[in-house]
Amino acid sequence: MTPSAPVSAADIEQLSANPEVNEWVVKVAEVTQPDRVVWADGSQEEYDRIAAELVEQGVLIKLNPELRPNSYLARSDAADVARVESRTFICSELEEDAGPTNNWRAPATMREELQPLLEGSMRGRTMYVVPFAMGPLGGKITQYGVEITDSAYVVLSMALMTRSGSAALEYMQPGDEWVKALHTVGYPLVNAEGETREDVAWPCNDTKYITHFPEDREIISYGSGYGGNALLGKKCFALRIASAMARDEGWMAEHMLLIQATSPEGKKYTISGAFPSATGKTNLAMMRPKVDGWKVETLGDDIVWMRPGDDGRLYAINPEYGFFGVAPGTGWSTNPVAMETIRENTIFTNVALTDDGDVWWEGMTDEAPAHLTDWQGNGWTPESDLPAAHPNARFTVRAGQCPTISPDWEAADGVPVDIILFGGRRRTNVPLVYRSKSWEHGCFLGATLGSEQTAAAEGPVGVLRRDPFAMQPFTGYHMADYWAHWLEMGEKLGDKAPAIFQVNWFRRDADGRFLWPGFGENIRALAWATAAVEGTVDPVETPIGLLPNVADINVEGLDITDEQLAQLFDVPADGWEAELDKTEEYFESIGEKVPAALHEQLRQVRAGFAK
Ligand code: PEP
Ligand code: NA
Ligand code: MN
Repeated sequence: MTPSAPVSAADIEQLSANPEVNEWVVKVAEVTQPDRVVWADGSQEEYDRIAAELVEQGVLIKLNPELRPNSYLARSDAADVARVESRTFICSELEEDAGPTNNWRAPATMREELQPLLEGSMRGRTMYVVPFAMGPLGGKITQYGVEITDSAYVVLSMALMTRSGSAALEYMQPGDEWVKALHTVGYPLVNAEGETREDVAWPCNDTKYITHFPEDREIISYGSGYGGNALLGKKCFALRIASAMARDEGWMAEHMLLIQATSPEGKKYTISGAFPSATGKTNLAMMRPKVDGWKVETLGDDIVWMRPGDDGRLYAINPEYGFFGVAPGTGWSTNPVAMETIRENTIFTNVALTDDGDVWWEGMTDEAPAHLTDWQGNGWTPESDLPAAHPNARFTVRAGQCPTISPDWEAADGVPVDIILFGGRRRTNVPLVYRSKSWEHGCFLGATLGSEQTAAAEGPVGVLRRDPFAMQPFTGYHMADYWAHWLEMGEKLGDKAPAIFQVNWFRRDADGRFLWPGFGENIRALAWATAAVEGTVDPVETPIGLLPNVADINVEGLDITDEQLAQLFDVPADGWEAELDKTEEYFESIGEKVPAALHEQLRQVRAGFAK
């Protein structure tokens, strides 16, 4: 076929058994005008073939198979390295429904704005049709979608991050609900006049649009090839679109990890947890407990979907199939489980290349190799001023390769959740661990979650970036309505609701030193939480929540003084009064829709300090 001839239904070889899918695929092909349309079957053979083609084209670098079998390095455009929140839009009919935390455009306006960009955007390229499932095939909590993309890198990444291919398509029968996810890098190889240009290793466009149509269950992403902007099953579907679906249908789509912790007595607790970026979510998900007898198993590190089961409890799945983790800072001392997970079958993006064809990044080893090729392809030595790996360099790998993966991680209908954690990076005020007084109070903890910028040294409260439920960039509707949905779920779950705890691994002393060692020692905080759930420890009631008796925290073998321990659990009245003032301002910024129950929680915490 000549590049300028538009693709029509007759040219698209493998149509699906679902006319609604076919109709959409044909419509997209007519607008974007690719050279050919390929339906991804999700097989290993397909994966290997596409990867080999990309190596041939210089898009991927094959790593040394003896050091890193079946693994590849991609180097992105220097300006396409992260999610772009300023170009992310929620296109609900009413602006009010996007709320104050999202960029909004009316759906018709956005579609008009996108139309000229999409026209001919895939000229000269292959358009891939990637059916995928978010969750185990056939599960009660699982949802389905189809991503159309002109990026072969995205096809490979989707094969690692989702259950993609023909098997997923079987679950999209006529009349079933599925999400339309259209992605183009916005770099056609042929223009409207028929003139051609050479491809580049990482095609993208300076203009970017990451758009969501929650009422149509649809995503259109233009101009970026990077993870969160382009792997549309992840943030766009599993959080922004799914959060809106979950509100309508009575379930929850959350930015959470999912683990099981087994006690020395052999009791297993399922724990989900919301943590803002850069607070060690992946490390906690893959924790090697430092206390004998405890075991932690991994189910997910980024997204959790939860739905009440027939027994009234809240069941959770990890809708993803892989990890898209930040490489820098991941090392044998900080996260050995992640290091083992990425030994093979991994795509690395924007990490450094060693001279023997392996990968390296800051924090992988204490000492940097004497010579590297940096993430942009330039020579690098330890004397270089710039980092060898981009700070947001990533690994993409199947979750099944994780040595601590739980046998339950693919349980079709999920596992019942015992404990929900909320945690931020807080140098002051917030104790190591404490329990909420009720579900409503737990919602208050979630709604007021935030992380201090690490550079913020001033004042007792510091500069807080609010990240409610760790969902600030990912809630697909009005933030206050999302809080109301959490409150409503609690009412529905009643006494079967999980217990909610706040944790903070990042408290500092007056000299700015961390009071808690973190990482594998965090099991000590989780152990207290499980004891609190069992009722084998009595918490202390304070204005902010139910704190441990310091004597109930197991510090055996830890290098920590009584004074440091006391500081870890200190609840300074002045610091909290300042914090509560800021919370009030924050609620005002979210507006009139903030549920009365959360204002009431704020009033009660204040009243506790006034006593
Ligand atoms: C992403 O940027 O694609 C992503 C997964 O983001 P984060 O690590 O912040 O969740
Ligand atoms: Na990011
Ligand atoms: Mn995330």
